[in-house]
Amino acid sequence: MLTPNIDLKNKTILVTGAAGFIGANLVLELLRTVEPVTVIGLDNMNDYYDVSIKEYRLTEIVQEAAKHSASKWEFVKGSLADKALVDGLFQKYGFAVVVNLAAQAGVRYSITNPDVYIESNIIGFYNILEACRNYPVEHLVYASSSSVYGSNKKVPYATEDKVDNPVSLYAATKKSNELFAHAYSKLYNIPSTGLRFFTVYGPAGRPDMAYFGFTNKLREGKTIQIFNFGNCQRDFTYVDDIVTGVKHVMCNAPEKKIGEDGLPIPPYRVYNIGNNSPENLLDFVDILQQELIAAGVLPVDYDFEAHKELVPMQPGDVPVTFADTSDLERDFGFKPSTSLREGLRRFAKWYKEFYMA
Ligand SMILES: NC(=O)c1ccc[n+]([C@@H]2O[C@H](COP(=O)([O-])OP(=O)(O)OC[C@H]3O[C@@H](n4cnc5c(N)ncnc54)[C@H](O)[C@@H]3O)[C@@H](O)[C@H]2O)c1
Repeated sequence: MLTPNIDLKNKTILVTGAAGFIGANLVLELLRTVEPVTVIGLDNMNDYYDVSIKEYRLTEIVQEAAKHSASKWEFVKGSLADKALVDGLFQKYGFAVVVNLAAQAGVRYSITNPDVYIESNIIGFYNILEACRNYPVEHLVYASSSSVYGSNKKVPYATEDKVDNPVSLYAATKKSNELFAHAYSKLYNIPSTGLRFFTVYGPAGRPDMAYFGFTNKLREGKTIQIFNFGNCQRDFTYVDDIVTGVKHVMCNAPEKKIGEDGLPIPPYRVYNIGNNSPENLLDFVDILQQELIAAGVLPVDYDFEAHKELVPMQPGDVPVTFADTSDLERDFGFKPSTSLREGLRRFAKWYKEFYMA
């Protein structure tokens, strides 16, 4: 186990993508569990998906912040790609820890809208690295993605595996982030940790993800398509588990050491954060519909079979993906623990309140 080398108390922390799914949950966790703390959230509030969900998350944060008078929360609306804005924030606040979660997410969207991936994920991340170089931080933590594993056949996916074959521009930008971070860690001794998240789900999650899209369609009486006839296995990770993992990582910056070449040995790490327990897609959908009925999103007599279509695999999809999380367990004694049923139950309850109250 690693001994934490950063105490978040009294620190000023930047969370980018703070109105996003993982970002907002991280800010809530920091406000709830670290006191006093100053959290600055940056987000451009783009309309890739329903902005009212982002606004809802920000309202939740404001309400939580009001309970912690010794702590401070400030939201800045703006883009990572705005270098002057990013520099100005680093100069003004002198962040101790930066968690970069802002990005253009989504694999399919990158086929039709490549520009925004370059702007947010490449230029935006570069701006964060440059700012960390000019205004040194104790730790830069940033989101990578399980998509860097491309169509690798070997499971579980381990951080030592070769990840040189991305199958989407989104994946290529995330792999690039890891490469950029490595170079900056080496050149400027910036402690950085990249996190490869595996399918994160939960209340106020992302509407572009399958569980959310399925729910919308079932509610509208439409048919959902289940790929590879349901013979797919995925690692679904509940958002609270992700946030706990991110917090552990934030408190443990890779150590700075000088190598034989007189330059820093890059203080650089990458972890998988996933469940290490793949779920069959059909079981997943089955639990989802049971919980949607239990929460009152769907009527008790809903004819689920009539709204479900089993279809072949999509090009580029892989039948089984899941995370090797042994590094996370070894270093932090941490492993996600929320069951799929419990996680989907909380999602279904939130969905009912948000859309149907
Ligand atoms: N949710 C998952 O399953 C998952 C899996 C793997 C990786 N990730 C990564 O984790 C991070 C967080 O994901 P999420 O699910 O919370 O996504 P999200 O889309 O809900 O959150 C990202 C936030 O970043 C903001 N943003 C985008 N571009 C920006 C820019 N240029 N400047 C400022 N803000 C910008 C968006 O408005 C959004 O609120 C992302 O980097 C994503 O790629 C997520």
